[in-house]
Amino acid sequence: MIKGAMLYEGKAKKIFATDQPDRVIQYFKDDATAFNAQKRGTIIEKGVVNNKVSERLFGLLESAGVPTHFIERLSDREMLTKRVMIVPIEVVVRNVVAGSLAKRLGLKEGEAIQPALIEFYYKNDALGDPLITDDHVRLLKLAEPKVVEEIKRLALKINELLVPFFRERGMVLVDFKIEFGLHNGQLILADEISPDTCRFWDQKTWESMDKDRFRKDLGKIEEAYQEVLRRVCG
Ligand code: C5P
Repeated sequence: MIKGAMLYEGKAKKIFATDQPDRVIQYFKDDATAFNAQKRGTIIEKGVVNNKVSERLFGLLESAGVPTHFIERLSDREMLTKRVMIVPIEVVVRNVVAGSLAKRLGLKEGEAIQPALIEFYYKNDALGDPLITDDHVRLLKLAEPKVVEEIKRLALKINELLVPFFRERGMVLVDFKIEFGLHNGQLILADEISPDTCRFWDQKTWESMDKDRFRKDLGKIEEAYQEVLRRVCG
């Protein structure tokens, strides 16, 4: 596998071409941003944690029949993935009230949500990733209606697989954001699943073990990421 030119640089990852046109290398950085990149910083070794945690979770999902872009982990910070056209929708699944849901609807943080709730956000930095409805998806032609249905089905299936996985490790999966892509016409899970893109609360103390520690300046950020790595991959 030969690493080629950088194709794209995002806030937390870089994507490189390879000698195979349908495969790319996803490189995980330590750079952290929040609030639409208004807050910036570094979380030491975050890239390594997110790469290894994503590898474990993509493996778990694949073996349960969820198609993902993951092929193999190449190094501490790199994974080989299938090349996709990203569907420009950030899909958020919520099991417990937190974050923007609490703020937008005036709900109390920590209330259970049963059954789990799905939200779509338009992946557009200039607009600040606004919350959108299915009708907006159709208006903006972000995805075909049958693709939207498949995204919802897979998102709920992923949630059903991840909730018990984290519960067994003493963690509450509060919510998470996923992204899908199209690869040879097939919808597959892409991007990452990591403490950057999930809210995890320790089951006993309800302490945040994720990027909220950076967003809210709670301290012990690196320690929390390492603890997630230990519980997920240890
Ligand atoms: O901020 P909000 O409550 O909407 O976030 C819901 C979930 O989606 C959280 O787990 C958060 O980490 C994740 N998220 C993300 N990237 C964004 C927005 C939210 O990973 N751009």
